[in-house]
Amino acid sequence: METPSTREHWGTRMGFILAAVGSAVGLGNIWRFPFQVSEQGGSSFLIIYLAFIIAIGLPAMLVEFTIGRRSKRNPINAFKKLGHGKWSFVGVICVITGFVILSYYSVVAGWTLQYTAGSITGGYFDDPAAYFGAISEGWVALGLHALFMAVVIGIVAMGIEKGIEICVKLLVPAIILLLLMLMFYGLTLDGAMEGVEYYLAPDLEVLSESWLEILPAAAGQAFFTLSLGMGAMITYSSYLAKDDDLVADSGWIVGLDTGIAVLVGLVIFPVLFAVGIDPGEGGPGSLFIGLGGAIAEAPGSNILGLVFFGTVLIAAVSSAISILEVVVSYVIDNFEVNRLPATLGVGSLIFLVGIPTAFSQTTLTFYDGVVADLLLPLGMALLVVFVGWFYTDARDELAKGLNIAPTSWFPNAWMWHVRTVILAAVVLALVLNAIGAYETFIELLTAGEAADVADHVHDTAIDLIEEP
Ligand code: PHE
Repeated sequence: METPSTREHWGTRMGFILAAVGSAVGLGNIWRFPFQVSEQGGSSFLIIYLAFIIAIGLPAMLVEFTIGRRSKRNPINAFKKLGHGKWSFVGVICVITGFVILSYYSVVAGWTLQYTAGSITGGYFDDPAAYFGAISEGWVALGLHALFMAVVIGIVAMGIEKGIEICVKLLVPAIILLLLMLMFYGLTLDGAMEGVEYYLAPDLEVLSESWLEILPAAAGQAFFTLSLGMGAMITYSSYLAKDDDLVADSGWIVGLDTGIAVLVGLVIFPVLFAVGIDPGEGGPGSLFIGLGGAIAEAPGSNILGLVFFGTVLIAAVSSAISILEVVVSYVIDNFEVNRLPATLGVGSLIFLVGIPTAFSQTTLTFYDGVVADLLLPLGMALLVVFVGWFYTDARDELAKGLNIAPTSWFPNAWMWHVRTVILAAVVLALVLNAIGAYETFIELLTAGEAADVADHVHDTAIDLIEEP
């Protein structure tokens, strides 16, 4: 078991910031964000999403940081260390959420792996939809899932400073540079500006008509993309050795994550419009079919595809390691095991949980919906109540590194904001999402009934024909 003095820590402040940026920037920005934008009406979604990030995401990240840095523990043990052992169940929810996220995240990352290789061979250029169909469900998808998990396990097994920190110092700058190159390329294509307009020109009509649907979707996306609500940021900040300025750190992390998401939109929508592909409502396949198709049409497909999907892959790795680290840190902190067996054991289990999503996209969409619509907002709501009413030292922790007194206006204003605005927004998102989930459930049920009735009618008709 690790004692606090032997517990690992980040080598540098930059290492921590980049690791947190690496966690935040991932499939959430490049795979999930664009299809949320297209499903929720383009620029209207972007506006609500941005508002949510600033008003809720940023201060909510501080909620996790103040818990992690003070307790220096994984999300389950943190509550006990802070004197509220009863709250450990919240950490349990976090760890379960981590399990579920990584199990399907790795499947999507596996598709990316295949597309990176497929860009070299040109495999998906002829028929992007058929190619996606062939690799996204079944044994190929399972193999890719295994391969991706193996990479992630390898990095996390090497530890905080030598594995994760070195990795993100290379990966994060690479992601930003590659995306900037892609954006400049995309914007030079003919017809690209239509995409920019779809993405950026505000459409107040859609906004006022559908904000009740857009709001909860934007909330889920904001938590997902900032890695909030499942203890990843608690875990990463628990490895902070010094009292840095947490506010500045979270400003950098949120700023970079959001900047990169906006940048991704500026890569994807111009390219889609330039080759005349409707962003549509393609769900989990839209990045691969839509953008894959666009890349196939564009000049220099092989290199373009390689750079694009390679970037997505790098971003996915740096996020996946943060999810695995949440569960691994719990195991290392509590059981007599070293990092290597802990990582191998947990990683293999997550691989197993992900198997059903490698065989069915419906299951994958279901896992993703449960995570972003319910588990993350639920985790965040509980953390907000904990910090708002039980963990009274949160303000002291925030004030450290800011060179101000815990009683000065800033920590107090933050606490007020946590107790009112954030709590209200999170609860509202949770309720709206729960209603949405309930409605979908009923729809599925009645669709099932309708199908049963149709089957029954069909069978009776056959019987009648066969036995007049
Ligand atoms: N933020 C990551 C992404 O955008 C996903 C993630 C969610 C990572 C929750 C950690 C915790 O891809």
